[in-house]
Amino acid sequence: MAETAIVSEELAKKFATERETPYTRWVRAEGLDIVGAHYVPSLHTVELKPWARRGGKGVFINHEASRTSNDCYVCEIAPGQKLAPQRQLFEEMILVLDGRGSTSVWNDAGSRFTFEWKAGALFAIPLNTWHQHFNGSGREGARYVAVTNAPPVINLYEDIDFVFGTKHDFRGRFNGEPDYFSAKGEQKGLLLQTNFVADAVNLPLIAAKERGAGGGHIRFNMAKGSMNSHISQFPIGTYKKAHCHGPGAHVIILSGEGYSLMWPEGDAPRRYEWQVGSLIVPPNMWLHQHAASAFQHRHHAGALSRLQARGGVDPQCAGRAQGLDQPPYRRRPDRLCGRSAGNPPDVCGGAGEQWPRAEDGCRLRGRTRRPAAVPGAIGGVNPDRNGP
Ligand SMILES: [Fe+2]
Repeated sequence: MAETAIVSEELAKKFATERETPYTRWVRAEGLDIVGAHYVPSLHTVELKPWARRGGKGVFINHEASRTSNDCYVCEIAPGQKLAPQRQLFEEMILVLDGRGSTSVWNDAGSRFTFEWKAGALFAIPLNTWHQHFNGSGREGARYVAVTNAPPVINLYEDIDFVFGTKHDFRGRFNGEPDYFSAKGEQKGLLLQTNFVADAVNLPLIAAKERGAGGGHIRFNMAKGSMNSHISQFPIGTYKKAHCHGPGAHVIILSGEGYSLMWPEGDAPRRYEWQVGSLIVPPNMWLHQHAASAFQHRHHAGALSRLQARGGVDPQCAGRAQGLDQPPYRRRPDRLCGRSAGNPPDVCGGAGEQWPRAEDGCRLRGRTRRPAAVPGAIGGVNPDRNGP
């Protein structure tokens, strides 16, 4: 038990019945499961159930901390099929995992757009717009993962008809702008102003050494929503600095191999192996860091609500000097492998940003460094285009 824990396990059990919420009841009414985990080995293969109302298959994934702030679900559209149209009073960001298809978005004023996507595409649904997804293949399924802020909305109103049936155009979010879903965007600092990324796996990034050795980074605020997301990348043998923040970040591995360490302050680090398509959801204020062991690693993380930011600073990105709990690197990185219980790795920096060498005792099991190239179902990173 962490020394900083607020309540005992015994007391927590007494409040277990209060974990049921209007949101969890809604998911069950949809006939779907909630995978209560902060780690899913592969979103490409996670088991889905028929989702009769939408016309596809799905599963919700959110652990106890995130299910009150935002959630995540995976949905699959059968070959040649489409989902039912839907509008909703919560925001949604989508990353296409497999397949190809298209999405139509329209509002009551009559503006309507259809855009095509394939694996690796990233976009958001403007608040309360009608939208419908189509599988463009007659032979392969199309699967996507979405992060939404449905939990606080459904828990607040506790009226499903209101959440999914309110006739109102939020014209400040979407007003039929002709280039709304075009892939072009203006870059302002680390922020890329766009509502559609055609290929998140190969999108050129911006150097961001503040988060670790040789890293690349880019940020999004799509569909003028309150949820942020970003893509981070770092080279083989390096890792992202340890840090912690509030609940809600869903980290999806876009390329590379490696692992993440997560731990509540005072406890031993816990290790989670990942591959392309893995999902990691750091619990509230747990320290965590991501390490690339083979292949240049890239991940997408969404979504932290602006409500969690302090003074306009997104805690997912900013450093401690800007208000984030991001411990400084330490000189010797030999606790990175998580073997040293009780010694969380606020690991190395400066000249020591590379992955620990064999003499440090932290080389990954059976893995050696390989040239930066990326395998996986959703494409590869071209280091000449994206590497630092
Ligand atoms: Fe994080």
